[in-house]
Amino acid sequence: MKIVMLGAPGAGKGTQAKMIADKYSIPHISTGDIFRANIKEGTALGLEAKSYMDQGKLVPDELTVKILLDRVAKDDCANGYVLDGFPRTIPQAEVLKDALAKLNDKIDYAVNVDVPDENIVKRMSGRRACVTCGATYHIEHVPPKTEGVCDRCGAALILRDDDKPETVLNRLKIYHDQTQPLIDFYTNEGILKTVDGTVDVKVVFENIISILG
Ligand code: AP5
Ligand code: MG
Ligand code: ZN
Repeated sequence: MKIVMLGAPGAGKGTQAKMIADKYSIPHISTGDIFRANIKEGTALGLEAKSYMDQGKLVPDELTVKILLDRVAKDDCANGYVLDGFPRTIPQAEVLKDALAKLNDKIDYAVNVDVPDENIVKRMSGRRACVTCGATYHIEHVPPKTEGVCDRCGAALILRDDDKPETVLNRLKIYHDQTQPLIDFYTNEGILKTVDGTVDVKVVFENIISILG
């Protein structure tokens, strides 16, 4: 099963993608996590990506597409995957569609996690992230068992550099300009499924599962 997660920054794409990946035993692929891992390791890719991410801008399509296509070509993707944060522009979606079509393949579902802008800024300031394994928490809604420590891997949790309120507002604007058009794109493909992302994490997950079957 091949799934694309859509939704504003902070809508809960990563939270749900991880749960989907665990349930269906498929990899969770987040371009944001790949960039953050590269930033942490100080690679050339990380340095370049950071200059865009810190301003809330998108990393250029050329760079992002190459990374994603390399990743989905790996063996662990043979039975499918859940993409979180890719595609984020129409050109990215077209490249993915063409690459899959060449393999006689396609995306099965685009799951749109719908959360209004008002809820987003509030959510982000409470988010804590693990840069080692990509897990995300929320100090109120999804707290780790031990404060500041990742349940999954034991690493220290951080407040992401791009979760400052002014950067979040920038990310939201870019989301509306460049990523929201993907809702029409996948509606036209006949695979868009929208879920309410404002309810409890577990309820959002149940609603997604009832769609995926
Ligand atoms: P990326 O890492 O993808 O960030 P994003 O899309 O802005 O999304 P987030 O990770 O911030 O939010 P999320 O939807 O995953 O929410 P989460 O589950 O954490 O990208 C970062 C940057 O990298 C981009 O700005 C760009 O620069 C670059 N980039 C990445 N991909 C790119 C691409 N394809 N092209 C170009 N550039 C790219 O949840 C948020 C918080 O809410 C958490 O604290 C969580 O615990 C909590 N929460 C989740 N669900 C609920 C709920 N139901 N109720 C209450 N709280 C909840
Ligand atoms: Mg995320
Ligand atoms: Zn972790």
